[in-house]
Amino acid sequence: MPFPTASNLASLGISVRMLFSGYLTVVGIGYLMSLVQILFTHGMADGKFGLSIDDIVYSYYGNRSGSVIESKLNGSMKGMASETERFKIIQWVRDGADPEAFKKDIQPIVQMRCIACHSAQSGFPIPDFNDIKNIFLRAETDNGATFSSLTRVSHIHLFGISFIFMFVGLIFVLASGVPIWLKATAIIMPYLFLLLDITSWWLTKLNPNFAWLVIIGGGAMAASFAFMWSVSMYEMWIMPRLHADTRDAIHDE
Ligand code: HEC
Repeated sequence: MPFPTASNLASLGISVRMLFSGYLTVVGIGYLMSLVQILFTHGMADGKFGLSIDDIVYSYYGNRSGSVIESKLNGSMKGMASETERFKIIQWVRDGADPEAFKKDIQPIVQMRCIACHSAQSGFPIPDFNDIKNIFLRAETDNGATFSSLTRVSHIHLFGISFIFMFVGLIFVLASGVPIWLKATAIIMPYLFLLLDITSWWLTKLNPNFAWLVIIGGGAMAASFAFMWSVSMYEMWIMPRLHADTRDAIHDE
């Protein structure tokens, strides 16, 4: 035979399998980290641990009956002040965020409880509350994600995630134990669901009923990642190496 006929995962030499497995391992850990990150930012949006439809609605559409300060103080900032202090701040926001009342009652709480992180010196990429304009802005109605933040996060995800799935897909293309229809479907799915996921962020920004699409898009993307990952690893390390070919650099054994 003039050409190696079996370029599949089970027949790859040890160095290519090491390369592919190293990449898959690191990208897999990265994926887990991003799920944990989602739990901590969006997952806490409604104040309860775990991702729910409410979290998605609050993150993108906003909690339009309240302000950012109020939803954060009931969410990820809940532990930052005592019940009484949180109640005082929320009451002040609901009473219309009066500047006089701010100086008298609220500023001392902010100084004591919030400035440690919410200042230019802290190094956190979060609003500086020494500039009280940053507080008053967040006492207005919570309209969820802004268009500029959605644009930023959308383009980072489109470029970054399609890059990851290009390599995961290229490795998975060499799988030999999967019927072609399933293989083709698994390869295109992440791209379709990435588009669905990101489109649904924008739709949810306009209408909270689209929040479930965000969950479907993200869930299906993770499922196709897990599928390609496991099949590739299985074929490289566990599947019997029936088609091993020994003639070129890729098949180096
Ligand atoms: C231990 C550090 C820390 C303390 C103390 C802290 N925050 Fe935060 N705050 C953060 C971080 C980190 C974020 C960004 C992540 C997030 O939104 O949950 C944030 C985000 C926010 C936001 C959203 C800002 C925006 O528009 O993106 C608000 C509002 C907020 N905090 C209010 C408060 C208030 C009020 C206090 C004091 C009672 C407080 N925080 C104390 C760390 C802190």
